[in-house]
Amino acid sequence: MDRTRAREIVDTWMFPTEKKSYMGGLEDRPILASSIGSTVVDTDGKEYLDFQSGQMGAALGHQHPRIVKAITETMKKLLHASNAMLNVPRLKLHERLGKLLPRPLQKSLFLVSGSDAIEAAADLARKATGGLDVIGLHVGLHGSTSYLTRSLSFAWKRSKHSLVAPATSAILAPHCYRCPLGLTYPKCEIQCLKTSLELADANFTSTPAAFIGEPILSAGGVIVPPPSYYRALQAELKRRNMLMIFDESQTGLGKTGKMFGFQHEEGVTPDIITISKHFGGGLPISAVCTTSEIAERAVRNGYFATRSHATDPLLCAAGEESLNIVVEEDMPARAARIEARVRKALAEMAGEFELIGDVRGRGVLLGVEFVTDRQKKTAANAEVQQIATYCLDKGLIFQLRGTQGDLNVVRLVPPMVTTDAEIERAMSILRDAVQIVSRNARGASQAAE
Ligand SMILES: Cc1ncc(COP(=O)(O)O)c(C=O)c1O
Repeated sequence: MDRTRAREIVDTWMFPTEKKSYMGGLEDRPILASSIGSTVVDTDGKEYLDFQSGQMGAALGHQHPRIVKAITETMKKLLHASNAMLNVPRLKLHERLGKLLPRPLQKSLFLVSGSDAIEAAADLARKATGGLDVIGLHVGLHGSTSYLTRSLSFAWKRSKHSLVAPATSAILAPHCYRCPLGLTYPKCEIQCLKTSLELADANFTSTPAAFIGEPILSAGGVIVPPPSYYRALQAELKRRNMLMIFDESQTGLGKTGKMFGFQHEEGVTPDIITISKHFGGGLPISAVCTTSEIAERAVRNGYFATRSHATDPLLCAAGEESLNIVVEEDMPARAARIEARVRKALAEMAGEFELIGDVRGRGVLLGVEFVTDRQKKTAANAEVQQIATYCLDKGLIFQLRGTQGDLNVVRLVPPMVTTDAEIERAMSILRDAVQIVSRNARGASQAAE
């Protein structure tokens, strides 16, 4: 399909199209026609390295042949089935996932999107504890459903929504590069947590139920909490009879170099985790996972969660195969290997270009924060936009993230099957972009002097 025809369809049949709106102006971006591995191809036949793994759903690689085979075989037999009856792929997925989960996590229920799973997780915690208040990190993001998950997505500006869910509030995210208290780790003794909980206690409108957080805050700018943060938080949650929910949408199933993102910190045992994104190998399926004891307690209090398509055999078969792939193709080790290569290239760039202020993340979830001044940490929003435009033109796709309205963090999420040669190519494009933009920025500041 050519661009003129695409534009016609957008103008007549789609919204939002206003360029400055979120998700507006898509007609000016590549229109995707096919994909394979780490590459997506647009309608002009141009190839791009997809260093955002689609919308994170292609972390196993686009069109993974085992996923395509599992889907093809299942759809010939049983595409859709009632969620009020069991079906074989559904049962097999519960068992496969249950065996993979670190104990005491054991039980699961399936939904469709990541947002669904977060809603269900919050409700699960409320039903299990009898409490109501749920707290999240102030630059966290947990979904786009119009009420509860957007209310908990503080990184997305709650003022964008007409109504916010009661009994949801934020605590400070432990963002050490831009400490909200102006302190330095470890001398700070994690003061942000102490201050936050003092405020949270004052703000609770009921008995508190849970904390929800990402092991790495992805959309907020790829923020990795400092060592021992989550352990200290869990101790505080226990004192308040609150449950700990980890949103593993972006960090689960191998992407950080371990099976689950929370496993990077010793001694943290979440009560509930959610998984989505590449769990379906490209199809939409999510899960809420918890312990037998919490599940029983919540169900006794009337808990249930489902969707019409939540247990479709097609989705469950894709889920089971994606877990098999993660284990049998050792995706955590691949992610760790990719991290080492990308970090080496980024460290060399940081040595060369002042624009790079910080490099962070784990596995195939990495962030590069750009600043115009390393001391002041001034966000290099305009420069990063130029870098992204150059890279897209040269065939490298990634997303921009940041905190407090800034978009100065290049988020790199290459699929876990990305080859060494593809990484080298991506890093070379990025390096050229940073070099050109740095040179232009230097030229502009000299001209101004
Ligand atoms: C950490 C996290 N949680 C939840 C979600 C929501 O997932 P979905 O878009 O599948 O509803 C997202 C989406 O990007 C996410 O990044």
